[in-house]
Amino acid sequence: MKKTLMSLLMVLGVAAAVVSCGGKQEAAKPAEGQKYTLGVTYYKFDDNFLAGMRNDMGAIAQEKYPQFELLNNDSQNSQAILNDQVDALISKGVSILVVNLVDPSNGQVVVDKAKAANIPIILFNKDPGKAVLESYDKAWYVGNNPEESGIFQGETVVKNWKANPKQDLNGDGVIQFAMLKGEPGHPDAEARTKFSVETIEKAGIKTEKVFEDAAFWDSAQAKDKVDALLSGPNGKKVEVIIANNDGMAMGAIEAMKAHNVMLPVYGVDAIPEALTLIEKGDLSGTVLNDGKNQALAVLELANNILQGKDPVEGTQWKLVDKSVRVPYVGVDKDNYKDFVR
Ligand code: BGC
Ligand code: CA
Repeated sequence: MKKTLMSLLMVLGVAAAVVSCGGKQEAAKPAEGQKYTLGVTYYKFDDNFLAGMRNDMGAIAQEKYPQFELLNNDSQNSQAILNDQVDALISKGVSILVVNLVDPSNGQVVVDKAKAANIPIILFNKDPGKAVLESYDKAWYVGNNPEESGIFQGETVVKNWKANPKQDLNGDGVIQFAMLKGEPGHPDAEARTKFSVETIEKAGIKTEKVFEDAAFWDSAQAKDKVDALLSGPNGKKVEVIIANNDGMAMGAIEAMKAHNVMLPVYGVDAIPEALTLIEKGDLSGTVLNDGKNQALAVLELANNILQGKDPVEGTQWKLVDKSVRVPYVGVDKDNYKDFVR
């Protein structure tokens, strides 16, 4: 008897909640003692930057959102696997999807799945682009402004070059550089490649590209590429190595050590290993890609969305084109200590 009354009251309660929000659809509230489930996918677990973000998201959820249960999935760098994972999460009835695309040009497929199931979705790290976000009222993006990272990286190259005239190995006033690119087509890789060099040129320093290749954000691949570069005829020409992320910069440093050369190398992300390398003098600069705040933003947005609130209500974030962009910060030997944690 008591039980029946309780369940009746619960049904009435749910009905009241739906009515009270006046047509604005609120996500299903978990039953007492249950959790909101966040179906989270990472393009691959063994990416330096995203491994850090996964830790951060877990830690922040545990501390601030005990009502959240994160269901983490490793898409193993396969968009097909990711699509299946999203299908499975939808059949499980997750409260919200939190997706790191494998192929940034494949966002529409995933957003369409979320839309068909009427489940909100936050994409992060791989920007699906404005049109995809606009195709579904419950789709948002959390990332950064990739242009900024290229500009900060370029500025650090310039600062260091000007302070150390010996970096101009052949004394021609031109920076002969090698570019280690992330995944081609990834907005972060494209913008960093372009804006780092543009920033150097804008500062009045001429550049000459002696090498460019994609190492897909990966240390081991970067190490092989730089090893081949240093073994070949252009190995003697290169004066500066610019990498789209720290993982690849770390690979470049390993390759240089094996060849007994020590050129200035620049990365992006400011992962802990990179800060240690700056301290040692092996890495000349990086740019903080603030994964911790991106993880926080994802969870804050999710929390608001699940309560039917404006996604950025009560947070420090602004939505522009349905996207939150967490600022980057340039990092070198003068300020790296501020970022050690
Ligand atoms: C990071 C890279 C990472 C990539 C993955 C970028 O924002 O800087 O380190 O590999 O995202 O999508
Ligand atoms: Ca030169």
